[in-house]
Amino acid sequence: MQDVMHLLQSHRSIRTFKDITIDQSLVEELIRSGQAAATSSFIQACTVIQVSSGEKREKIAQFAGNQRYVAKAPVFLVFCADMHRHQLACELHKVPMQSGYTEQLLTASIDCALFAQNVVIGAEALGLGACYIGGLRNEIAAVSSLLALPDLVFPVFGLCLGYPDQNPEVKPRLPLSLTLKQDSYTQDKTTDEADKLDIAALEAYDQQIREYYISRTGNQKETGWTEQISGMLQKEARPHMMKFLQDKGFMNK
Ligand SMILES: Cc1cc2nc3c(=O)[nH]c(=O)nc-3n(C[C@H](O)[C@H](O)[C@H](O)COP(=O)(O)O)c2cc1C
Repeated sequence: MQDVMHLLQSHRSIRTFKDITIDQSLVEELIRSGQAAATSSFIQACTVIQVSSGEKREKIAQFAGNQRYVAKAPVFLVFCADMHRHQLACELHKVPMQSGYTEQLLTASIDCALFAQNVVIGAEALGLGACYIGGLRNEIAAVSSLLALPDLVFPVFGLCLGYPDQNPEVKPRLPLSLTLKQDSYTQDKTTDEADKLDIAALEAYDQQIREYYISRTGNQKETGWTEQISGMLQKEARPHMMKFLQDKGFMNK
């Protein structure tokens, strides 16, 4: 096993996989590692659906914006935020469940993220590669009905897993000065002074990302991080999500 810090800092998403089957025992071991993650108030609100049916994979790939690796990856998992079994627990004890809270949406989603990241780290430690697929939320209602998800369950993201057939460079992350703050967001400066420092750091980071995109082996482009993010943030962000989540029994209060 590689040194853990080195492993974590070597992460890159893998989107092209070798045509090698992953043993089901290995998938189950990864799921057990996911289950071992911390979970809010022990709610264990993550359910994973392993999608092996080629037909369903093809549909999810389409729903996710025709991402071909969803159909092709040796293993594809859908991580679902799941409060359905909590309803069963309440029924078992003949008590009404207080559901619909935004807080429950957060705790169940956080549980899924922690669970999935354990799976990813475990997979990478074993030489596998992974790519999260948030794109399935483009058509979240269609994915939910394809997977027969009941009320109080929704797909948070998918995950492609397989042995890498590509070796992409690690994408540089934001500088620590932007990510780690001491004692307060502005670190005892005025908001204006703090913003000026952050903007200078963002400009330096833009240069680093531009160089990364120009020199990387695949999908070269010439753009900085702020340019990419400001472009993305001019578009709507899956505006169907609120109604969908409310219909599923989340985020009503
Ligand atoms: C929740 C989540 C959803 C994502 N969805 C997609 C996706 O739908 N398609 C994709 O190709 N990559 C997806 N990614 C991967 C990100 O694009 C990737 O992590 C990011 O660009 C950083 O690159 P790196 O993982 O190679 O360091 C997703 C990542 C996360 C955490």
